[in-house]
Amino acid sequence: MLDVVVLVSGGGTNLQAIIDAVESGGITNTRIAGVISNNKNAYALERAKKHGIESRCVSPKDFTSREEFNERFQEAVEEWKPDLIVLAGFLVVIPPSMIERYRNRIINIHPSLIPAFCGTGFYGLKVHEAALKRGVKVVGATVHFVDEGTDTGPIILQKAVEVEPQDTPEILQRRVMEQAEWKILPEAIDLIANGRVSVSGGRAVVSR
Ligand code: GRF
Repeated sequence: MLDVVVLVSGGGTNLQAIIDAVESGGITNTRIAGVISNNKNAYALERAKKHGIESRCVSPKDFTSREEFNERFQEAVEEWKPDLIVLAGFLVVIPPSMIERYRNRIINIHPSLIPAFCGTGFYGLKVHEAALKRGVKVVGATVHFVDEGTDTGPIILQKAVEVEPQDTPEILQRRVMEQAEWKILPEAIDLIANGRVSVSGGRAVVSR
């Protein structure tokens, strides 16, 4: 059984997709051990509560230094002894010591086809604004392992989504979530839970 801790900052629609897949059997061999938000008002925390999943808030705002926050945050994660940590719209930088400890056991969902529109400054609506500004015709989402860089870790799954002529950043963001993020994030967890993902030579190898 894969014990998963999900880290969130906002609405939690990706968390909801994971919860739904666990409950419906779309994800097997997996238990959501806990949810941590850096934002006490995140609706994601309500979603966890509604499904009887333990949750807590650990916010940098409640600590005088980043070091103190990092320490408390890592302790909070480790209390659940996760096999896998899932960043589902989590906007806080993961402490390097945690990346080291959980090498190839932390995954992130990014709302673009990496290496396009990723790295520092590309988060939330900014990703979709940049894609529309550039005039690309296909966008998408990526699930990848987290390493020390920003959106640089081994890529596990990607899914493409068409851009439509009338798209606004908000409309495109929603389509990328519906058609890509909410599908490939649960799918990646299921693949990992069933031993179908390994990392070799810095690349993820997925066997379906
Ligand atoms: C998603 O677009 C995700 O790709 C990005 O942040 C957003 C989170 O949305 N990293 P939600 O909180 O899962 O609804």
